[in-house]
Amino acid sequence: MEWRVPLSDLDYGLEEEEAVLAVVRRRWLTMGAVTQEFEEEFARFIGAKHALAVSNATLALHLANLALGIGPGDEVIVPSLTFVATANSVLYTGAEVRFAEILGPGDLNISPADIEKQITPRTKAIQVVHVGGYACNMPAILDIARRYNLVVIEDCAHAPGAYLNGQHLGTWGEAGCFSFFSNKNLSTGEGGMLVTNRDDVAEKVRLLRSHGMTSLTWDRHKGHAYTYDVVGLGFNYRMDEIRSALGLAQLKKLPAGNARRRLITERYWQSLQDIPGVELPFCDSPAQSSYHIFPMLLPEGLGRISFIDNLRAAGVQTSIHYPPVHKFSYYQQRYPGLSLPVTEAVAGREVTLPLYPGMTDEQVEIVIAAVRAALDKKRSTPLASQT
Ligand SMILES: Cc1ncc(COP(=O)(O)O)c(C=O)c1O
Repeated sequence: MEWRVPLSDLDYGLEEEEAVLAVVRRRWLTMGAVTQEFEEEFARFIGAKHALAVSNATLALHLANLALGIGPGDEVIVPSLTFVATANSVLYTGAEVRFAEILGPGDLNISPADIEKQITPRTKAIQVVHVGGYACNMPAILDIARRYNLVVIEDCAHAPGAYLNGQHLGTWGEAGCFSFFSNKNLSTGEGGMLVTNRDDVAEKVRLLRSHGMTSLTWDRHKGHAYTYDVVGLGFNYRMDEIRSALGLAQLKKLPAGNARRRLITERYWQSLQDIPGVELPFCDSPAQSSYHIFPMLLPEGLGRISFIDNLRAAGVQTSIHYPPVHKFSYYQQRYPGLSLPVTEAVAGREVTLPLYPGMTDEQVEIVIAAVRAALDKKRSTPLASQT
């Protein structure tokens, strides 16, 4: 379908084309000098001591858990209002998740009070998600972690270039994990980055992402090493040079892209805030977001599917962030009978509107008009006949 306004779009141009061509012409494709440069630039940008490029954020989260010693018998507290990868990455280690509630309609992030309620003698870590790039309450979460001797992992898939109190998200906990999937603020198609200020975590991740080997093909090509040892059970979670080159080009565009996202977000807030029953999460957030997505909550009891269909008919693509993880069949079988009333109520009303740097002012107004028209139409339909 040809959308008048798609949900997201790549901010790609000549810079990305030239970056890929340069790698192809240099004739070295696997993790090497370009990836190293991307890691250094990303670490500098985020203000972290180490940045390690990996195949995607799911695996960055997996490695963060492993490097922090999470394994069978342990529990990690995660939100349920997230992409399933957040929870899956914990289960890969043999540990179990415990789902915590979100704060509520005004803030879709994990609730510090509920984190504290979920702590058991088995709890080893808290894995937070900065939904939409809006910061979780990190001071409160770090305080809980200190009191109960837990480590904190930040799922920063939505949050490159976002801050809280002047400090980049991803540097508050032990490790921060970023996604470069094609709909993200910084996109390489697939890809991810783990940042950490801890030397021991960086060293473990470096080994684990490449088979537990003590040297890389690149090191041997450069004549820095002749052979290697395998010192642990590792994986192949590496990044490659083509995607790292795309990442470097995209990193340069990130601040301007986030600034444009902010303007669009503020226009949405301004023009949708007066609609009765509609709630706009994060509109009071004190943090500087990366404005990855624009979530809105429909009035209670209003049918979401026909609202989405009305927007679709106007050429506007929408999405849902997220179906709660604990409601998926696999998770229901694993954790039967689990109920998270705040998460479920909010998730049932959520619709995500288009947001990307290349969106024109005209497209923003098309979305706003389509939302208003769809809500007016719904209001004139009796509730019982709505889907
Ligand atoms: C909150 C969150 N965590 C983790 C991931 C996984 O990222 P990736 O696709 O890079 O593995 C995503 C991707 O959409 C995400 O949105």
